[in-house]
Amino acid sequence: MKKKVTVLGATGMIGQTIIKLLEDHPWFSIETLVASKSSSGGKYSEKCRWILSDPMPESVKDMVIVDVDTALDTHILFSALDSSVADEIEIDYRQKGHIIVSNASNHRMDSDVPLIIPEVNPDHLQLIDNENNGGWEITNPNCSAVVISLALAPIFIEYGIQQVFVVTMQSSSGAGYPGVPFFDLHGNVLPYIEGEEPKIEKEITKILGSIENKRIVNHSCEVSVQTNRVAVLYGHMVSLFVTTKSAVNVERIKDLLSNFSGIPQERNLPIAPKHPIYLGENEYRPQPRLDVDRENGMAITVGRVKKVNENTLHMVALGHNTIRGGAGAAILNAELLHSEGMI
Ligand SMILES: NC(=O)c1ccc[n+]([C@@H]2O[C@H](COP(=O)([O-])OP(=O)(O)OC[C@H]3O[C@@H](n4cnc5c(N)ncnc54)[C@H](OP(=O)(O)O)[C@@H]3O)[C@@H](O)[C@H]2O)c1
Repeated sequence: MKKKVTVLGATGMIGQTIIKLLEDHPWFSIETLVASKSSSGGKYSEKCRWILSDPMPESVKDMVIVDVDTALDTHILFSALDSSVADEIEIDYRQKGHIIVSNASNHRMDSDVPLIIPEVNPDHLQLIDNENNGGWEITNPNCSAVVISLALAPIFIEYGIQQVFVVTMQSSSGAGYPGVPFFDLHGNVLPYIEGEEPKIEKEITKILGSIENKRIVNHSCEVSVQTNRVAVLYGHMVSLFVTTKSAVNVERIKDLLSNFSGIPQERNLPIAPKHPIYLGENEYRPQPRLDVDRENGMAITVGRVKKVNENTLHMVALGHNTIRGGAGAAILNAELLHSEGMI
Protein backbone atom coordinates (compact mmCIF):
# COMPACT_ATOMS: atom_id res chain seq x y z
CA MET A 1 0.00 0.00 0.00
CA LYS A 2 1.21 3.51 -0.81
CA LYS A 3 2.28 5.83 2.00
CA LYS A 4 0.02 8.86 2.36
CA VAL A 5 1.82 12.22 2.38
CA THR A 6 1.04 15.92 2.81
CA VAL A 7 2.45 18.77 0.73
CA LEU A 8 3.12 21.97 2.70
CA GLY A 9 3.24 25.05 0.46
CA ALA A 10 1.20 23.14 -2.11
CA THR A 11 0.24 26.22 -4.16
CA GLY A 12 3.81 27.46 -4.79
CA MET A 13 6.17 26.62 -7.61
CA ILE A 14 7.95 23.81 -5.77
CA GLY A 15 4.70 22.55 -4.19
CA GLN A 16 3.10 22.27 -7.63
CA THR A 17 6.15 20.45 -8.98
CA ILE A 18 6.04 17.97 -6.07
CA ILE A 19 2.35 17.35 -6.80
CA LYS A 20 3.08 16.74 -10.48
CA LEU A 21 6.05 14.43 -9.78
CA LEU A 22 4.03 12.40 -7.25
CA GLU A 23 1.08 11.97 -9.66
CA ASP A 24 1.73 8.27 -10.39
CA HIS A 25 4.36 7.58 -7.77
CA PRO A 26 4.60 3.90 -6.83
CA TRP A 27 5.28 4.51 -3.10
CA PHE A 28 3.63 7.81 -2.10
CA SER A 29 0.16 9.27 -2.60
CA ILE A 30 -0.99 12.76 -1.67
CA GLU A 31 -3.56 12.92 1.10
CA THR A 32 -3.50 16.58 2.20
CA LEU A 33 -2.53 19.96 0.75
CA VAL A 34 -1.49 22.82 3.03
CA ALA A 35 -1.01 26.50 2.12
CA SER A 36 -1.46 29.90 3.76
CA LYS A 37 -4.74 31.05 5.29
CA SER A 38 -5.54 33.03 2.15
CA SER A 39 -5.59 29.82 0.03
CA SER A 40 -7.14 27.48 2.59
CA GLY A 41 -10.81 26.47 2.67
CA GLY A 42 -11.20 26.23 -1.11
CA LYS A 43 -10.66 23.51 -3.71
CA TYR A 44 -7.10 23.24 -5.01
CA SER A 45 -8.25 23.82 -8.60
CA GLU A 46 -9.92 27.09 -7.58
CA LYS A 47 -7.29 28.47 -5.18
CA CYS A 48 -4.07 27.45 -6.92
CA ARG A 49 -2.78 29.44 -9.86
CA TRP A 50 -1.24 26.46 -11.69
CA ILE A 51 1.89 27.53 -13.56
CA LEU A 52 3.32 24.27 -14.89
CA SER A 53 2.93 23.39 -18.56
CA ASP A 54 1.80 19.84 -17.63
CA PRO A 55 -1.85 19.82 -16.48
CA MET A 56 -2.90 19.77 -12.83
CA PRO A 57 -3.41 16.12 -11.75
CA GLU A 58 -7.10 15.15 -11.51
CA SER A 59 -6.45 13.57 -8.09
CA VAL A 60 -5.79 16.95 -6.39
CA LYS A 61 -8.30 19.19 -8.16
CA ASP A 62 -11.11 18.68 -5.63
CA MET A 63 -8.94 18.49 -2.52
CA VAL A 64 -9.73 21.29 -0.07
CA ILE A 65 -6.59 23.17 0.98
CA VAL A 66 -6.05 23.41 4.75
CA ASP A 67 -3.90 25.78 6.79
CA VAL A 68 -1.16 24.91 9.27
CA ASP A 69 -3.56 24.93 12.24
CA THR A 70 -5.28 21.79 10.91
CA ALA A 71 -4.14 18.48 12.45
CA LEU A 72 -2.65 16.19 9.79
CA ASP A 73 -3.23 12.45 9.46
CA THR A 74 -0.08 11.70 7.48
CA HIS A 75 3.28 11.00 9.09
CA ILE A 76 5.33 12.25 6.12
CA LEU A 77 5.20 15.92 5.07
CA PHE A 78 6.91 17.33 1.99
CA SER A 79 7.68 20.97 2.77
CA ALA A 80 7.77 23.60 0.01
CA LEU A 81 7.00 26.43 2.41
CA ASP A 82 8.23 29.93 1.83
CA SER A 83 11.37 30.34 3.94
CA SER A 84 9.86 33.37 5.71
CA VAL A 85 7.45 30.99 7.48
CA ALA A 86 9.07 27.53 7.26
CA ASP A 87 11.24 27.89 10.37
CA GLU A 88 8.62 27.67 13.09
CA ILE A 89 6.03 25.73 11.11
CA GLU A 90 8.47 22.88 10.43
CA ILE A 91 9.59 22.78 14.09
CA ASP A 92 5.99 22.69 15.20
CA TYR A 93 5.19 19.73 12.93
CA ARG A 94 8.33 17.91 14.13
CA GLN A 95 7.20 18.37 17.72
CA LYS A 96 3.91 16.79 16.76
CA GLY A 97 5.83 13.71 15.55
CA HIS A 98 5.85 14.29 11.78
CA ILE A 99 8.74 13.57 9.44
CA ILE A 100 9.55 16.61 7.28
CA VAL A 101 11.22 16.25 3.88
CA SER A 102 12.01 19.90 3.27
CA ASN A 103 13.02 22.17 0.42
CA ALA A 104 13.17 25.26 2.60
CA SER A 105 16.57 26.60 3.61
CA ASN A 106 15.73 27.30 7.27
CA HIS A 107 16.99 24.08 8.91
CA ARG A 108 19.56 22.90 6.36
CA MET A 109 22.53 23.81 8.55
CA ASP A 110 21.04 22.49 11.84
CA SER A 111 23.32 19.89 13.41
CA ASP A 112 20.57 17.27 13.72
CA VAL A 113 19.18 17.80 10.20
CA PRO A 114 20.92 16.00 7.33
CA LEU A 115 21.40 17.93 4.10
CA ILE A 116 21.26 15.13 1.59
CA ILE A 117 21.99 14.42 -2.05
CA PRO A 118 21.41 10.66 -2.16
CA GLU A 119 24.21 10.00 -4.69
CA VAL A 120 26.71 12.07 -2.69
CA ASN A 121 26.25 11.80 1.07
CA PRO A 122 23.61 9.20 2.04
CA ASP A 123 25.74 8.34 5.11
CA HIS A 124 24.66 11.70 6.60
CA LEU A 125 21.31 10.09 7.43
CA GLN A 126 23.10 9.06 10.64
CA LEU A 127 22.44 12.57 11.94
CA ILE A 128 18.78 11.68 12.38
CA ASP A 129 17.86 10.72 15.90
CA ASN A 130 14.63 8.77 15.59
CA GLU A 131 15.05 6.58 18.64
CA ASN A 132 12.35 8.28 20.69
CA ASN A 133 9.83 8.16 17.84
CA GLY A 134 9.60 11.95 17.80
CA GLY A 135 9.47 13.93 14.56
CA TRP A 136 12.56 14.72 12.53
CA GLU A 137 13.60 16.45 9.34
CA ILE A 138 15.70 15.85 6.25
CA THR A 139 16.52 18.62 3.76
CA ASN A 140 17.73 18.92 0.19
CA PRO A 141 20.25 21.65 -0.68
CA ASN A 142 19.83 25.01 -2.33
CA CYS A 143 19.10 24.62 -6.06
CA SER A 144 22.60 25.74 -7.14
CA ALA A 145 24.34 23.83 -4.33
CA VAL A 146 22.84 20.56 -5.66
CA VAL A 147 24.29 21.14 -9.14
CA ILE A 148 27.68 22.20 -7.77
CA SER A 149 27.94 19.32 -5.28
CA LEU A 150 26.95 16.67 -7.81
CA ALA A 151 29.57 17.96 -10.26
CA LEU A 152 32.22 18.07 -7.52
CA ALA A 153 31.47 14.66 -5.96
CA PRO A 154 33.35 12.36 -8.38
CA ILE A 155 36.35 14.72 -8.38
CA PHE A 156 36.27 15.04 -4.60
CA ILE A 157 36.38 11.24 -4.13
CA GLU A 158 39.45 10.70 -6.33
CA TYR A 159 41.40 13.96 -6.14
CA GLY A 160 40.35 15.72 -2.94
CA ILE A 161 39.31 19.38 -3.07
CA GLN A 162 41.07 22.41 -1.59
CA GLN A 163 39.25 25.35 -3.10
CA VAL A 164 36.20 26.04 -5.26
CA PHE A 165 35.34 29.32 -6.99
CA VAL A 166 31.88 29.45 -8.51
CA VAL A 167 29.96 31.91 -10.66
CA THR A 168 26.27 31.02 -11.00
CA MET A 169 23.76 31.93 -13.70
CA GLN A 170 20.42 31.24 -12.03
CA SER A 171 17.06 31.13 -13.76
CA SER A 172 14.07 33.29 -12.89
CA SER A 173 12.01 30.34 -11.59
CA GLY A 174 14.54 30.01 -8.77
CA ALA A 175 12.87 33.01 -7.17
CA GLY A 176 9.44 31.30 -7.00
CA TYR A 177 6.26 32.83 -8.42
CA PRO A 178 5.85 35.67 -9.42
CA GLY A 179 9.56 36.10 -8.77
CA VAL A 180 11.81 38.81 -10.20
CA PRO A 181 9.95 41.66 -11.96
CA PHE A 182 10.01 41.40 -15.76
CA PHE A 183 11.31 44.97 -15.97
CA ASP A 184 14.41 44.04 -13.94
CA LEU A 185 15.22 40.82 -15.75
CA HIS A 186 14.15 41.08 -19.39
CA GLY A 187 17.25 41.32 -21.63
CA ASN A 188 19.32 41.68 -18.50
CA VAL A 189 21.59 40.05 -15.89
CA LEU A 190 21.38 40.89 -12.18
CA PRO A 191 24.77 40.35 -10.50
CA TYR A 192 23.43 39.64 -7.02
CA ILE A 193 20.84 37.39 -5.38
CA GLU A 194 20.17 38.40 -1.81
CA GLY A 195 21.24 35.82 0.79
CA GLU A 196 22.22 33.22 -1.82
CA GLU A 197 26.03 33.29 -1.79
CA PRO A 198 26.72 32.46 1.90
CA LYS A 199 23.98 29.83 1.77
CA ILE A 200 25.62 27.97 -1.13
CA GLU A 201 29.12 28.33 0.35
CA LYS A 202 28.10 26.84 3.72
CA GLU A 203 25.91 24.10 2.29
CA ILE A 204 28.68 22.72 0.07
CA THR A 205 31.05 22.30 3.03
CA LYS A 206 28.30 20.47 4.95
CA ILE A 207 27.43 18.16 2.01
CA LEU A 208 31.12 17.29 1.51
CA GLY A 209 31.61 16.99 5.27
CA SER A 210 32.15 13.77 7.21
CA ILE A 211 30.33 12.15 10.10
CA GLU A 212 32.30 11.62 13.29
CA ASN A 213 30.55 10.18 16.34
CA LYS A 214 27.19 10.91 14.73
CA ARG A 215 28.08 14.59 14.33
CA ILE A 216 28.77 16.45 11.11
CA VAL A 217 32.24 17.90 10.54
CA ASN A 218 32.07 20.36 7.66
CA HIS A 219 34.73 20.00 4.98
CA SER A 220 37.55 22.52 5.27
CA CYS A 221 37.73 23.45 1.56
CA GLU A 222 37.38 27.12 0.72
CA VAL A 223 34.24 27.86 -1.31
CA SER A 224 33.61 31.27 -2.82
CA VAL A 225 30.46 32.00 -4.83
CA GLN A 226 29.19 34.89 -6.91
CA THR A 227 25.57 34.61 -7.99
CA ASN A 228 23.77 36.10 -11.00
CA ARG A 229 20.08 36.04 -11.94
CA VAL A 230 19.71 35.59 -15.71
CA ALA A 231 16.77 35.78 -18.10
CA VAL A 232 16.28 32.02 -18.38
CA LEU A 233 13.10 30.30 -17.20
CA TYR A 234 14.40 26.96 -15.89
CA GLY A 235 17.95 25.75 -15.20
CA HIS A 236 20.77 26.99 -13.04
CA MET A 237 24.17 27.00 -14.76
CA VAL A 238 27.41 27.28 -12.77
CA SER A 239 30.96 28.00 -13.88
CA LEU A 240 33.38 26.24 -11.51
CA PHE A 241 37.09 26.58 -10.85
CA VAL A 242 38.19 23.68 -8.66
CA THR A 243 41.61 23.35 -7.02
CA THR A 244 42.28 19.73 -6.15
CA LYS A 245 44.73 18.13 -3.72
CA SER A 246 46.48 16.10 -6.42
CA ALA A 247 47.28 16.92 -10.07
CA VAL A 248 44.32 16.80 -12.43
CA ASN A 249 43.92 14.70 -15.56
CA VAL A 250 41.09 15.98 -17.76
CA GLU A 251 40.35 12.68 -19.54
CA ARG A 252 40.21 10.82 -16.22
CA ILE A 253 37.90 13.47 -14.77
CA LYS A 254 35.53 13.25 -17.74
CA ASP A 255 35.47 9.50 -17.21
CA LEU A 256 34.72 9.90 -13.49
CA LEU A 257 31.91 12.37 -14.20
CA SER A 258 30.13 10.31 -16.83
CA ASN A 259 30.41 7.05 -14.85
CA PHE A 260 29.36 8.53 -11.51
CA SER A 261 26.46 6.86 -9.72
CA GLY A 262 25.31 6.06 -6.20
CA ILE A 263 22.67 4.39 -4.07
CA PRO A 264 19.70 5.76 -6.09
CA GLN A 265 21.03 4.06 -9.22
CA GLU A 266 22.01 0.83 -7.37
CA ARG A 267 18.56 0.57 -5.82
CA ASN A 268 16.75 1.80 -8.93
CA LEU A 269 14.79 4.38 -6.92
CA PRO A 270 11.69 5.48 -8.86
CA ILE A 271 12.65 9.10 -9.55
CA ALA A 272 16.42 8.53 -9.83
CA PRO A 273 18.10 9.25 -13.17
CA LYS A 274 19.97 6.32 -14.75
CA HIS A 275 23.02 8.58 -14.93
CA PRO A 276 23.13 11.57 -12.55
CA ILE A 277 25.79 13.34 -14.66
CA TYR A 278 26.04 13.68 -18.45
CA LEU A 279 28.94 15.17 -20.37
CA GLY A 280 28.02 17.92 -22.83
CA GLU A 281 28.44 16.73 -26.44
CA ASN A 282 30.60 19.67 -27.50
CA GLU A 283 32.10 22.96 -26.34
CA TYR A 284 28.74 24.75 -26.72
CA ARG A 285 27.07 22.58 -24.07
CA PRO A 286 25.53 22.56 -21.54
CA GLN A 287 22.76 25.01 -22.44
CA PRO A 288 19.54 25.45 -20.44
CA ARG A 289 17.36 25.19 -23.53
CA LEU A 290 18.95 21.97 -24.76
CA ASP A 291 20.02 20.16 -21.60
CA VAL A 292 17.83 21.13 -18.65
CA ASP A 293 15.28 18.30 -19.09
CA ARG A 294 17.74 15.43 -19.27
CA GLU A 295 16.27 12.39 -17.50
CA ASN A 296 13.11 14.38 -16.68
CA GLY A 297 15.17 17.12 -15.06
CA MET A 298 16.93 14.77 -12.60
CA ALA A 299 20.33 14.61 -14.32
CA ILE A 300 22.85 17.43 -14.55
CA THR A 301 25.06 18.15 -17.58
CA VAL A 302 28.72 19.09 -17.31
CA GLY A 303 30.86 20.60 -20.06
CA ARG A 304 33.87 22.82 -20.82
CA VAL A 305 36.08 20.58 -18.68
CA LYS A 306 39.61 21.95 -18.99
CA LYS A 307 42.82 22.10 -17.03
CA VAL A 308 43.77 25.58 -15.81
CA ASN A 309 47.04 24.57 -14.13
CA GLU A 310 48.51 21.46 -12.50
CA ASN A 311 45.90 21.33 -9.71
CA THR A 312 43.09 23.47 -11.04
CA LEU A 313 40.24 22.46 -13.26
CA HIS A 314 37.47 24.47 -14.89
CA MET A 315 34.02 23.16 -15.82
CA VAL A 316 30.46 24.31 -16.40
CA ALA A 317 27.48 22.45 -14.90
CA LEU A 318 23.74 22.82 -15.43
CA GLY A 319 20.76 21.39 -13.57
CA HIS A 320 17.00 21.86 -13.39
CA ASN A 321 16.43 24.10 -10.38
CA THR A 322 12.83 23.19 -9.57
CA ILE A 323 13.30 19.44 -10.22
CA ARG A 324 16.86 18.27 -9.39
CA GLY A 325 17.33 21.42 -7.32
CA GLY A 326 13.93 21.31 -5.59
CA ALA A 327 10.90 19.03 -5.87
CA GLY A 328 12.69 16.05 -7.43
CA ALA A 329 15.51 16.33 -4.88
CA ALA A 330 13.01 16.10 -2.00
CA ILE A 331 11.23 13.12 -3.57
CA LEU A 332 14.58 11.35 -4.12
CA ASN A 333 15.38 11.96 -0.44
CA ALA A 334 12.04 10.45 0.57
CA GLU A 335 12.71 7.46 -1.68
CA LEU A 336 16.12 7.04 -0.03
CA LEU A 337 14.44 7.04 3.41
CA HIS A 338 11.88 4.51 2.18
CA SER A 339 14.58 2.24 0.75
CA GLU A 340 16.44 2.45 4.09
CA GLY A 341 13.28 1.45 5.96
CA MET A 342 13.29 4.78 7.82
CA ILE A 343 9.73 5.74 6.78
N1 LIG B 1 12.11 27.86 -6.80
C1 LIG B 1 13.18 27.07 -6.69
O1 LIG B 1 13.90 26.82 -7.68
C2 LIG B 1 13.54 26.44 -5.36
C3 LIG B 1 14.48 25.41 -5.36
C4 LIG B 1 14.82 24.80 -4.15
C5 LIG B 1 14.23 25.21 -2.99
N2 LIG B 1 13.32 26.22 -2.98
C6 LIG B 1 12.71 26.57 -1.69
O2 LIG B 1 11.42 25.91 -1.65
C7 LIG B 1 10.48 26.73 -0.93
C8 LIG B 1 9.30 27.05 -1.85
O3 LIG B 1 9.78 27.78 -2.96
P1 LIG B 1 8.81 28.25 -4.14
O4 LIG B 1 9.69 28.76 -5.20
O5 LIG B 1 7.82 27.18 -4.44
O6 LIG B 1 8.02 29.47 -3.40
P2 LIG B 1 6.59 30.10 -3.69
O7 LIG B 1 6.21 29.85 -5.12
O8 LIG B 1 6.64 31.49 -3.20
O9 LIG B 1 5.56 29.23 -2.74
C9 LIG B 1 5.54 29.37 -1.34
C10 LIG B 1 4.45 28.47 -0.73
O10 LIG B 1 4.42 28.69 0.70
C11 LIG B 1 3.05 28.88 1.10
N3 LIG B 1 2.95 29.70 2.31
C12 LIG B 1 3.36 31.00 2.51
N4 LIG B 1 3.06 31.40 3.76
C13 LIG B 1 2.45 30.34 4.38
C14 LIG B 1 1.90 30.13 5.68
N5 LIG B 1 1.93 31.08 6.63
N6 LIG B 1 1.35 28.92 5.95
C15 LIG B 1 1.31 27.94 5.02
N7 LIG B 1 1.81 28.07 3.74
C16 LIG B 1 2.37 29.27 3.45
C17 LIG B 1 2.40 29.59 -0.09
O11 LIG B 1 0.98 29.48 0.01
P3 LIG B 1 0.00 30.63 -0.61
O12 LIG B 1 -0.05 30.39 -2.09
O13 LIG B 1 -1.30 30.35 0.06
O14 LIG B 1 0.59 31.95 -0.23
C18 LIG B 1 3.00 28.77 -1.22
O15 LIG B 1 2.30 27.54 -1.35
C19 LIG B 1 11.23 27.98 -0.48
O16 LIG B 1 11.65 27.80 0.85
C20 LIG B 1 12.41 28.04 -1.45
O17 LIG B 1 13.50 28.72 -0.92
C21 LIG B 1 12.94 26.83 -4.16
